[in-house]
Amino acid sequence: MTPRPCLICVAALLAVGTGRAAPAPAITVESQVPPYTLPDPLVCADGTPVRDAATWRAKRRPELLELFAEHEYGRTPAGRPAAMHWAVTSLDRAALGGKATRKEVTIWFTAKSDGPQMHLLIYQPNGLRAPPPVFLGLNFFGNHTVNADPGIALAQPFVFYDVEHYRPAPADTPVTSEQRGVHAAKWQIETVIARGYATATAWCNDLCPDRGDSLLGAVPALFATGSSEDRKDDAWGALGAWAWGLSRALDYIESDPELDAKRVAVHGFSRLGKAADWAAAQDERFAMLVSFESGQGGAALSKRFYGETVAIINGKFFYWFAKNFRRYNDNEAALPIDQHELMALIAPRPLYVSSADGDQWSDPRGEFLGAKGAEPVYRLFGEAGLGVEEMPGLNTPVGDTIGYHDRTGKHDVTDYDWACVLDFAGRQLKREKKS
Ligand code: GCU
Repeated sequence: MTPRPCLICVAALLAVGTGRAAPAPAITVESQVPPYTLPDPLVCADGTPVRDAATWRAKRRPELLELFAEHEYGRTPAGRPAAMHWAVTSLDRAALGGKATRKEVTIWFTAKSDGPQMHLLIYQPNGLRAPPPVFLGLNFFGNHTVNADPGIALAQPFVFYDVEHYRPAPADTPVTSEQRGVHAAKWQIETVIARGYATATAWCNDLCPDRGDSLLGAVPALFATGSSEDRKDDAWGALGAWAWGLSRALDYIESDPELDAKRVAVHGFSRLGKAADWAAAQDERFAMLVSFESGQGGAALSKRFYGETVAIINGKFFYWFAKNFRRYNDNEAALPIDQHELMALIAPRPLYVSSADGDQWSDPRGEFLGAKGAEPVYRLFGEAGLGVEEMPGLNTPVGDTIGYHDRTGKHDVTDYDWACVLDFAGRQLKREKKS
C-alpha cells in the first residue's frame, strides 16, 4: 500500500534495473479513455456460446482460469505441500475484553520447523451457539498492526514500515508498543466480532516479502520459482504466492471445528485485494470475495487504460505478476482477458467491490465496470448481480449478489467500507444456504 504516486514520477520510477521502456503516462480524465472492446465472458475461445451454468462450469470457467494463469498471474502449484502442518501456538478465551477468543496458529509449509511458515491470527466471537463465518485477509505490516491487543505476537522478522508513507523503516528500528494497532481502523476487528463473524489474518511477508528479490525466498523458493527476471514466462509472482497462502489459511480453517469453513469471505485491500481476487477465483471453497480498491490487476478493467496501467504496474512491481503480463504493456487491446472475467470467476458466490472517489489511481469506474461485466455469468445461475445499469452516486451501496460502493475519501479501508460489507455479508453469507 504505497501512497498514490505523482503521475509524472511514475515513468521515472519504472524500469529501475529492468531496462524496459517508459510506459505511456496514466490518464485520469474520463473523456480521454480510448475506445476499447471487452472479451465476452460467455463466448469460449473456440467461439462456442455459453448458455447455461453447466457449460460455464465445464468449459468456460476452466478456460478463463487457464488464461489468467498464463497471461497475468502465473501458474499456481497444485494443492498443498504434503508435509504442511500446523499448531495452535497461543490461545486466549478472554481477548478483547472477554468478547472474543484469540488464537494464533503457525502453519509450516514443509516438515522443517525453520522452513517457510505463516502465522495466522484469529479472533472469534465468544458465546455463539454455532461456529461463526470468517473474514480472512492478508495484512501489510504484521499481525500486531491489525489491533492494539498486546497479546498479539509481534511479527518476526520485524520489518516495520513508515505507516504514513508505506516505506520500510531503517533496519534497526526498535519494536515498540506504539506499533501495535497502527492499522486497526482498516480492520475494525471489534465491529466484525460484534456482528458475529470471526476474523483471520496473516502477514503477506510470511508468504512472499513485498520487494523485488522476493521470488528467491519464502514460498516462491519452495517451488523453485526463480528470480523475477529468470523465472519462466508463466511462473507466478508475489500475487500468486499471496493467493496461494490464503488457500493454505483456509486449509487450517477447515480443520478448526470452532470456525465455519463453508462461510469464509476472503478480502483484501489494494495489492492484497488483487491477491484475494485471484485466490477466490481459483479456490471455490471461498464462499465470498470482498475486493477493497484492488484497481489494476484486481477488479478494474485493464483495457480502459485509466489510472494505473499494465505497463506502469509491471514497471514498478515487476515481481507481482507473471512475466507474460509484460507482453501487454501499453498493449492492453491484445489481452485475451479482462478483469470483469476474473470477477465472473467468483460466480455464483457473493462478490463485493468497493472503490474510493479520492483513489482515481485504482479507477473506481473501472472497478464498477469490472463488477458489472461479471453479471451475465451471475445470471446464468439465476443471480441478479448488481441490479443497476449505471455507476451509483457516492456513498450509495448497491447490489444483490454483487455489491458495490464508491466512497468519498482516499485510498483506504474505513469503518464505512466495513459497515457496507457487513450489511452485504449479513444478507449474502449468513442467509440460509440454498439446498
Ligand atoms: C500502488 C500500486 C497499486 C496498489 C497499491 C497498494 O499504488 O500502484 O497497484 O494497489 O500500491 O497496494 O496500496
